[in-house]
Amino acid sequence: MKVIGINGSPRREWNTAQMVESALKGAQAAGAETTLYHLRDIDFKGCVSCFACLKLGAPTHGRCSYPDALKPVIDDILSADALIIGSPVYFGDITAATRALLERLWFGGLAYDMSHFVLYTRQIPVKVIFTTNAPQEGFHTTLNESVVTTMSRFIGPTELIEANDTLQFDDYSKYDAAMFNVAAKQKRHEEHFPLDLQRAFDVGKKAVGEAAAV
Ligand SMILES: Cc1cc2nc3c(=O)[nH]c(=O)nc-3n(C[C@H](O)[C@H](O)[C@H](O)COP(=O)(O)O)c2cc1C
Repeated sequence: MKVIGINGSPRREWNTAQMVESALKGAQAAGAETTLYHLRDIDFKGCVSCFACLKLGAPTHGRCSYPDALKPVIDDILSADALIIGSPVYFGDITAATRALLERLWFGGLAYDMSHFVLYTRQIPVKVIFTTNAPQEGFHTTLNESVVTTMSRFIGPTELIEANDTLQFDDYSKYDAAMFNVAAKQKRHEEHFPLDLQRAFDVGKKAVGEAAAV
């Protein structure tokens, strides 16, 4: 059982990374082998519109084959039993790096033919994790719905969890960020973020159970 984790935050050790790592620990507890990719470490582009994935009769048909450092990551996801993917919300959207990965993961499995719009022949459970400054779940509803819908269609049944009102800096006094109630942020981080990590652990574990049932 192989579970892939993707950290779509440029920060390797902050909220999103910790949430994805916790989900992977849950998957490990359920017996899975896990691999974590930090997108910031990978030199890659979004879809370059080469259309090799759509080319009839070509060995590249039905999968993104653009030969950069993301190609093995896409191959790893498509041969995995479950996917955990996390992104901070940036201006109401996923990060540019996460979007670039998803353009290639999703479009590589698409045909412009409604008789077989999705070329991928298997589905795996997906857990999406968003972390936000926004104070509550569902603040970015349109984003949530669009990612869950498209992910479910191309990769597999998708569940989304969020860690909200995250701590963004170690020391707020050093930054131009007076709109935040720092004491409340700290309190939330100390009291609520551990619960978010536990939820991530639980969905990681659940993903393995769902993968085993496929
Ligand atoms: C460029 C940028 C844009 C952001 N835009 C939003 C936003 O639209 N909504 C939101 O709730 N948080 C926003 N945030 C806050 C982050 O999503 C939040 O702090 C997140 O937990 C950071 O994840 P990380 O700690 O893994 O890097 C933004 C942060 C940055 C750096």
